[in-house]
Amino acid sequence: MSFCVAIDGPAAAGKGTISRAVAAQFGLAHLDTGLLYRAVGMKDGDPVVAAQTLCTEDLARPDLRSLTAGEAASRVAVIPEVRAALLEFQRRFAAREGGAVLDGRDIGTVICPDADVKLFVTASAEVRAARRFAEAGEGSLAEVLEQVRARDARDTGRADAPLRPAEDALILDTSSLSIDEAVTRACTLIAARRDAAVR
Ligand code: CDP
Repeated sequence: MSFCVAIDGPAAAGKGTISRAVAAQFGLAHLDTGLLYRAVGMKDGDPVVAAQTLCTEDLARPDLRSLTAGEAASRVAVIPEVRAALLEFQRRFAAREGGAVLDGRDIGTVICPDADVKLFVTASAEVRAARRFAEAGEGSLAEVLEQVRARDARDTGRADAPLRPAEDALILDTSSLSIDEAVTRACTLIAARRDAAVR
């Protein structure tokens, strides 16, 4: 059976950690789709060509987790041709035998509208900036908060595949949850949906 979990949400809401834990718990393959956009953003030249020719080495760059790469990703992510070039790869990954969890911004709305479970993981901008600041070790908290807000505005305001919860997404606000609590809640929600689906 191929079981697909879509996890979307804004920067630093906890999507990545939750997705990895969900993949391990349910034995699913995991794709962090933000990495694709980060790799495109960090490549030289035309971003559309970069997306069309993206290869495994591009995804292995050590600087893809930097704030600079996140910023570059959100700039190229507004280009419809970039999104189109990355779509098929994500859909094939989602349909793989054994099931998959994909995390990003448009998984439940565009990439996998028929996903078995859709989670929208969110948290206040202040909490997300504090988390990003603690993990990045660059810039100041005020700068990071400004970047988080700018990225939210760009991601939610773009015309093509804007960041928003799918109508049938379950909302998980992690503002006042520890990461363990957030993971436990996500796994409980997913297990309930999976059990209902096999019944
Ligand atoms: O880890 P974080 O949430 O900060 O970012 P990310 O998931 O690595 O995504 C970086 C940027 O890529 C986002 O701000 C989006 O602009 C873009 N992105 C997207 O447009 N669609 C996706 N499915 C994933 C990322």
